[in-house]
Amino acid sequence: MELVHSRADLQAALSTRPSRRGLVPTMGALHAGHLSLMRQARSDVETLVASIFVNPKQFGPKEDFARYPRQLEADARLCQEAGVDVLFAPEPAEMYPADYATQVSVGGGLTERLCGAYRPGHFDGVATVVTKLFLLTGAHRAYFGQKDLQQWRIIAQLAEDLNIPTEVVRCPTVREPDGLALSSRNVFLSPDERRAAVRLSRALGGVLTDFERVPLETAIARARSIIEQEPLIRLQYLEVVQLSDLSAATAFGPGLAALVAGYLGETRLIDNVLLDPHGPDAALVRPSVSEVTP
Ligand code: PAJ
Repeated sequence: MELVHSRADLQAALSTRPSRRGLVPTMGALHAGHLSLMRQARSDVETLVASIFVNPKQFGPKEDFARYPRQLEADARLCQEAGVDVLFAPEPAEMYPADYATQVSVGGGLTERLCGAYRPGHFDGVATVVTKLFLLTGAHRAYFGQKDLQQWRIIAQLAEDLNIPTEVVRCPTVREPDGLALSSRNVFLSPDERRAAVRLSRALGGVLTDFERVPLETAIARARSIIEQEPLIRLQYLEVVQLSDLSAATAFGPGLAALVAGYLGETRLIDNVLLDPHGPDAALVRPSVSEVTP
């Protein structure tokens, strides 16, 4: 594996390798969720490129950019084991030189809702860096986790709208045995917060269990109460939306997802499920909501 830090070295490394490239963009602090994207990409493409870049443009002024975990050496070893050919780990000045002036902003209602409502500018930062990574690598395919469903939807839109010939692939969420979605931020949780955090996925599992059995509003209210009964979680939102345009759903039906975001102490966690009882999140379906409510 070749570790490169500059755009020039990235171009040089790519120029000598087969041209069917896959890209896995990350912010590092790699876990099994990231590695699952690399595994999928490794089996699809000839040259596997991963990036590790804690992108300052996607963090708000009061967010956790400074404390975001950084562990390049350990991450590079994991990338090597996962079969990455080229690891691109630039410094902020390499991606955003002093005269940098351009921003990619996705509209159409995709960025204003859900996380966008609580993190102004976040998705512009994501869209900007991902566009740069697509263009720098010329990736044939790029792999993203369902864990960040709104992010995936926005990136699929920008590739389509800007005629970027990178196929945007969505991979299933990898979870802890109790259901908590893996996240680089889980290391910040105290033992009590870690125990409480499982309610995020349990609440979503509740919506899946209730799918087409009770009215949508009832399912949402039950799921919110699973979270609100836990004082260690400050719920931001729990919503059911159409996957196509992320607009709020009014009734159960096909093509929906339930998404949640909340704070445990200083740590903001998100999760979601596709509302298909036989789909990738079926493992979260539980016999009844009352079972998960103490
Ligand atoms: P990061 O949070 O490091 O995530 C990198 C990729 O890993 C994203 O596509 C994310 O959805 C995926 N991922 C995270 N947790 C996962 C899990 N439990 N199961 C499956 N996939 C998971 O998302 C970002 O970085 C950044 O916004 C980025 C796209 C790199 C742009 O800066």
